[in-house]
Amino acid sequence: MSQIPMSQSPQVKFYSGENIPLELHKVRVVQKLHLVPIERRLEALHEGGFNTFRLNTVDVFLDMLTDSGTNAMSDKQMAAMMMADDAYAGSQSFYRLKTAVEEVLGKKYLLPAHQGRAAENIISNAYVKKGSLIPMNYHFTTALAHITQYGGKIVELLYSEAYNIKSTHPFKGNMNIEKLKEVIEQHGVKNIPYIRMEASTNLIGGQPFSIANLREVRAIADHYGIKLVLDASLLGENAYLVKQREPEFADKSMAEIILAMTELSDIVYFSARKLSSSRGGGICTNSLEIYREFEPLVPLFEGFLTYGGISVREIEAMAVGLHETLDESMICQSPQFIEYLVNALDGKGIPVVTPAGVLGCHVDAMQICAHIPQTQYPAGSLAAAFYLISGVRGMERGSISNQRDEYGNETYADMELLRLAVPRRVFTLSQIKYVEDRLTWLYENRSLIGGLRFVYEPPVLRFFMGGLEPVSDWPQRLMAKFKKDFGDSL
Ligand SMILES: Cc1ncc(COP(=O)(O)O)c(C=O)c1O
Repeated sequence: MSQIPMSQSPQVKFYSGENIPLELHKVRVVQKLHLVPIERRLEALHEGGFNTFRLNTVDVFLDMLTDSGTNAMSDKQMAAMMMADDAYAGSQSFYRLKTAVEEVLGKKYLLPAHQGRAAENIISNAYVKKGSLIPMNYHFTTALAHITQYGGKIVELLYSEAYNIKSTHPFKGNMNIEKLKEVIEQHGVKNIPYIRMEASTNLIGGQPFSIANLREVRAIADHYGIKLVLDASLLGENAYLVKQREPEFADKSMAEIILAMTELSDIVYFSARKLSSSRGGGICTNSLEIYREFEPLVPLFEGFLTYGGISVREIEAMAVGLHETLDESMICQSPQFIEYLVNALDGKGIPVVTPAGVLGCHVDAMQICAHIPQTQYPAGSLAAAFYLISGVRGMERGSISNQRDEYGNETYADMELLRLAVPRRVFTLSQIKYVEDRLTWLYENRSLIGGLRFVYEPPVLRFFMGGLEPVSDWPQRLMAKFKKDFGDSL
């Protein structure tokens, strides 16, 4: 009997002609979910300062906060965890991971770190100082926080199309090459320790860059003698979209596409919570000189060089997970579900980031909550409202997720997005349809959503633990309308 090779993208057509993403896995371990009544959801919002990060999952039905550490693990990953070698130094588990990194990412030196931001801390500690400027396609919250913590600044160099919510551009994560040259000329090579490219640019809707663009960035980096750092946390998904959208790579394997991207980069770092459906993180390079610059920082911040703050069980899961990233039938599941949801909402005129990216469906709060000024955080308000009426927890990716500038002023986000993450192989299609249904209802009742204001604002990464309150009794009014329309339904 012939078998579909594991690396092939599944194209299963339905007789009905409907475009339905078909799950190519089966569920073998399940977790019971609870959909608590709307009255309890309102209480939970008050207890959690109208911040979805602060909700307890006993009150959450579908957890679409993030894909970080929440992707489903495979049977092979779980099995590998049982074979872990507990050793402070020289663990065999580490060497298995090192081999996997070399095979999948093509880099021979590996520095483990307990998660992606720990890798960012090490890179920033080694290279960033007061006066440094880091050009990048777009920031990620933790990358920016670490760079500024060490006295550096960033400059974001996307093309203007990236900020268009409704677009058909296949590579909104591309770096603006002309601007990159200008910035280097203006600020001087000596102030630019590295250029950062983020795969599947998270905060603009999980939008990829093309390899053609990465090659151009590499050429500039070579011309000026500047290092190129790749944030590979969402590299598998970027590779999948390169295969779908960049004709040169249509017939290439995931392994070849991933290597094409990492070969162009001097330093690759990643959150394994995303990349390999495990926990942990790491930095890898083929340069011994670079390795030596980071080496002393791993025992200082993370742990010994053969575990870097990661449990050995997770190191085993990482090694297997990295190889599984090359399996197109696995990696395609989340982007296909996202595309399904994005197209369904877009078809109803509900503003979402298009084309569908990765990580999640990104709903445009700037349009849906056009009546809420940015000073009252439209994306945070939409996230709270959506949880209230559905039990679905999304994440605010707007001005609350931005940090204040060095003078303490608000910096309003370019986009106010509610991100509904679709972690790999976690949700079923009927759950996705529930999200579509409740979001449609909320869209039709959007005038009832009101703003938020901070009552507790932490100085760093305020979106994690910050506390807010509604500016009026809008949550009560929204709940009353929900009860009127849905009666006793949860
Ligand atoms: C693009 C990107 N870089 C870095 C990080 C930070 O990784 P971690 O959450 O493992 O610290 C994340 C996490 O979501 C991310 O999406």
